[in-house]
Amino acid sequence: MCGIIGYIGNKEKKEVVLDGLRELEYRGYDSAGISILSNDVLSTFKTTGKLINLEVKCKDFKSSGFGVAIGHTRWATHGKATEINAHPHFGEVSSVVHNGIIENFLDIKKQLESREKVFLSQTDTEVIVHLFEENLSICSNHIKAFKKTIDSLIGSYAILLITKSAPDKIFYAKNGSPLLIGSNGDEIYFASSSTPLIGLVDRVCYLEDGDVGYMDISSFDNLKNIQPMSGEKISSQKEGYRYFMEKEIYEQHKILKDTIRGRILDDSINLELPADFIDGINKVSICACGTSYHAGLSAKYLFEREAKIKTDVFIASEFRYAEPIIEKDSLFIVVSQSGETADTLEALKLANKNGLKTLAICNVDSSSIVREAKYYLLTRAGVEKGVASTKAFSSQVMLLWMLGIYMAQHKKTISNEKIKIQVDNISNSLEATKVNSCIHDKLKKLSKRYLHGHGFFFIGRDIFYPLALEGALKLKEISYLHAEGYPGGEMKHGPIALADSELFCVSLMPKHLLYDKIKNNTQELSARDATICIIAQEYNEVADDVVFIDKFDSYMEEFFAMMIVLQILALEIAIRLGNDVDMPRNLAKSVTVE
Ligand code: G6P
Repeated sequence: MCGIIGYIGNKEKKEVVLDGLRELEYRGYDSAGISILSNDVLSTFKTTGKLINLEVKCKDFKSSGFGVAIGHTRWATHGKATEINAHPHFGEVSSVVHNGIIENFLDIKKQLESREKVFLSQTDTEVIVHLFEENLSICSNHIKAFKKTIDSLIGSYAILLITKSAPDKIFYAKNGSPLLIGSNGDEIYFASSSTPLIGLVDRVCYLEDGDVGYMDISSFDNLKNIQPMSGEKISSQKEGYRYFMEKEIYEQHKILKDTIRGRILDDSINLELPADFIDGINKVSICACGTSYHAGLSAKYLFEREAKIKTDVFIASEFRYAEPIIEKDSLFIVVSQSGETADTLEALKLANKNGLKTLAICNVDSSSIVREAKYYLLTRAGVEKGVASTKAFSSQVMLLWMLGIYMAQHKKTISNEKIKIQVDNISNSLEATKVNSCIHDKLKKLSKRYLHGHGFFFIGRDIFYPLALEGALKLKEISYLHAEGYPGGEMKHGPIALADSELFCVSLMPKHLLYDKIKNNTQELSARDATICIIAQEYNEVADDVVFIDKFDSYMEEFFAMMIVLQILALEIAIRLGNDVDMPRNLAKSVTVE
């Protein structure tokens, strides 16, 4: 989603800001722009589409010496993805970039228009710059004018503003959208996530909601909560794979080793949580969005089956406004790859406000969600670049599975022998995620038969139902074909009306969980001429196509093996359709607005 970069210093500001934006590119955007203020000249460049277009547009521009600069990648919310709507938005002497949504922008816009301000764009953001310039003509100084502007805004925002009348400063404000400031002593950097700052700064400040101020080259030390920042820039490469998504599918068996590292001791699960963590907990609520929600739904089956603990799972955007009943003996778990998803973060804040014990399952250390939760466990999947989540999902399911066993150990709901079996299953599941080249080749060939038709049903039962949802989501996200996930037993309650020879059904048929039940459900679709592709250990006459997984002894191993098949199937179909697999249309990697 939208990304922000800011810079104060002597380097070639255009390059610094473009480099920063490149680091944010994978998060999804549809236009981009930069503003550079140096030697009393404020220059702005904006384009639609990829950053390369922006690079071409400003290729002849140079700025020497000290200056300030801001940049932005935009994922359209208010107004189409046009050049005019791209950020920065400018007034007479100032320029602004903004992540988030200004909810009262129409009221402010009407008032400003009634005072003859002219708007160029359809965005909510443009009001900020005009309001600032109006306030500046009334107020005695810049920061007063900026604070007055921010006080008028309702909504979520991370804002950077530069102005010719204060050419050495960047004004900033944060509420609900992430924003960081970093320094290396000689330069100041701003960014909407830590990735662009790695290797450039040695100290960083994660701004808090409500922070408003300005930075010049010497004011970094006045910030509160400055933390050291270490690490070298590791630029992810595709390493011979066609897409980051493909690479990330293949590396799952390696990263899962990191997910479990140090967390299995003496045939039992050992998590970085206090010994009394589970005491007094009688229920679990899990809240998440997208793929992370599917990981949460998978956990419900595992928590209830192993730890005998009642578990409810909520889509975060539905949880926030539903006036949920908050029970004090609940553990509130949020699951998030990025740690920045606005709805999940707000649900977490609500749970904290109500005094619940909160736990984040997250991939990004120091993310907003990790910092907000009372406890956290990191999934250790490494940076995930493909917008369609793969390794983040497997690491979430793995960690949640371990948490389920951990709770079962504490609640003594399973015997030591069963814990040992589960621990063995975990190790075998790592193996199950190793991509078998024969299966990949098979899926490559098969994909050409699944490009037409009016849609796909992915069906599964029990924990294979959330996996079916995830398989359908993967296909939808990158192939743009219509796909739905369903519990197998639900077919005859409506969806089967769509079954005909133009419907594809991908059926998850684990040998070790409700095999006969899902076989019956699949047969019902086959009888109505749908094309059936089963994923199973053994041949079954209901199938038109079979993708065999290796032989496994537990349903969780089958779960992970089938997950790989679903991810590769989506990948190969999308490649055949000629789509940009890593940056699919309309999608963002990190959704920082509600
Ligand atoms: C976006 C991404 C999905 C992701 C979802 C939740 O929609 O495209 O891949 O599952 O956000 O993100 P989170 O970072 O909270 O897991």
